[in-house]
Amino acid sequence: MSAEQLHQLRRDPERFLHDLYHSPTIRLPDGRHVPRLPAHDFWISDGEFCGRIGFRFQPGTEELPPTAYGHIGYTIVPWKQRRGYASQALGMILSVVRSEGFSRVLITCDDDNEGSRKVILANGGVPDGMVPHLGRPGRLKLRFWVPAGEP
Ligand SMILES: CC(C)(COP(=O)(O)OP(=O)(O)OC[C@H]1O[C@@H](n2cnc3c(N)ncnc32)[C@H](O)[C@@H]1OP(=O)(O)O)[C@@H](O)C(=O)NCCC(=O)NCCS
Repeated sequence: MSAEQLHQLRRDPERFLHDLYHSPTIRLPDGRHVPRLPAHDFWISDGEFCGRIGFRFQPGTEELPPTAYGHIGYTIVPWKQRRGYASQALGMILSVVRSEGFSRVLITCDDDNEGSRKVILANGGVPDGMVPHLGRPGRLKLRFWVPAGEP
């Protein structure tokens, strides 16, 4: 989780939830504000907070705007990693993907993110090349299509 997000949550929980779902724009890590895509966000819990997973999309198309690397993003807090939670969460969110009418999702990870690559492969991810990493010059983003089954 970003420290900034946790700070916002503690400062004003109602405002945090409102912004999470209803603000017309989101702020990118580089500070730019771009239109918010429709999204489903989940917090991952084993009784304690473990992390988050989100699915964002443009209705009716697999295309994404250039500011979004992929449909799904996830983070597990360091003290809950390597318990299979990210792999399980990705498997679980695929039913939401289907319910929105999609049969597959694009997920990308940094070329040196072995953990995330394994999470994607554990869910049937099919490699689809790589693109330059805009935030980390010299590094690449690996692209994968993860099948979600028939909508
Ligand atoms: C990547 C991340 C989501 C993995 O979460 P996780 O819950 O630990 O993942 P899982 O427990 O489901 O692990 C899946 C596999 O990856 C392996 N793995 C997990 N973290 C790893 C790491 N840092 N290095 C190498 N392998 C790792 C696990 O051992 C497991 O391997 P196995 O299938 O052979 O048993 C987590 O490390 C994280 O939040 N990182 C920071 C944010 C991030 O990178 N998000 C993804 C952006 S694309």
